[in-house]
Amino acid sequence: VSAYRAALAELLSARRAAGVARPTVSLVPTMGALHSGHAALADAARAEAEIVVASIFVNPLQFDDPEDFRHYPRSLDSDVELLTAHGVDLVFAPEVEEMYPGYPDGPLVRVSAGELGRRWEGASRPGHFDGVVTVVAKLFSIMSPPVMADVGARFESWFGEKDAEQLAIIRRMVADLDLEVTIRSLPIVRDADGLALSSRNQRLSAQERQHALRLVEALSTLARRAEVGQRLDVDGVVSALRAAEGVELDYLVVADPQTLRPAALPADGVLEREALALVAARVGPVRLIDNMMLRPT
Ligand code: PAJ
Repeated sequence: VSAYRAALAELLSARRAAGVARPTVSLVPTMGALHSGHAALADAARAEAEIVVASIFVNPLQFDDPEDFRHYPRSLDSDVELLTAHGVDLVFAPEVEEMYPGYPDGPLVRVSAGELGRRWEGASRPGHFDGVVTVVAKLFSIMSPPVMADVGARFESWFGEKDAEQLAIIRRMVADLDLEVTIRSLPIVRDADGLALSSRNQRLSAQERQHALRLVEALSTLARRAEVGQRLDVDGVVSALRAAEGVELDYLVVADPQTLRPAALPADGVLEREALALVAARVGPVRLIDNMMLRPT
């Protein structure tokens, strides 16, 4: 952490020496095993900030299954290569012992995502979002926003809309805890066939991939109905997904984008204000999540 802070301080003074009055420092937090979705986050950060930092840390606190943590793909060398190729100035890749000395006995003090952390993904993965907000708060703190502010720098951090609940919870944490960071978000990066990029997609066979496309089709159906003012009929879409071959549906819901509570639909079933459709399902060996904003016109 101290070596990292020293490197950041050096980058900051170099930018100031080069005449940048108010440099922006952008952080892109990741768990590694990077793909084009992560690269797009780095590109977005690079396009708007003087200093871009990425973190690579497979955070044990956010895995409810220790086996899943152990088997999470790790590819530090190629990840650093990809980040460097996408203009990242500094990579922070700490060991577990450095982030959580004495782990698993620590950290004793953690951040809670509260009720937001128990919805949808949070219900299926108890403790997951508490682990996410704890590590993200820690990463923000390691970046030392007060030190940045001292030298006139601004601090922002980028997250993908792929993990919509995570993004909503992090925004809420920043507001609730008055953290000095601006949260930026990037729309979901999809493959040509529409499937949202995820490191887990590699484990899908060609046929399972076809099955997985039912998820994005279901979301698109809801988005189209919302746009043209047609009845959403979420139940109908859910039944179709339940009947779909190769898809084991966990949930498909239409929620308020901020509170993540189920959106209240009027009696005619036509969506009146923006809402977020969230879906999770098991397809073959993997659990996939996706989402789409529903925008009535
Ligand atoms: P990770 O799964 O590595 O994702 C890092 C970032 O990449 C997240 O903000 C995620 O939303 C974004 N991302 C992944 N796939 C994407 C896609 N197809 N399109 C757009 N963005 C995408 O999310 C985490 O790590 C962790 O929970 C973390 C925030 C790092 C805390 O440990």
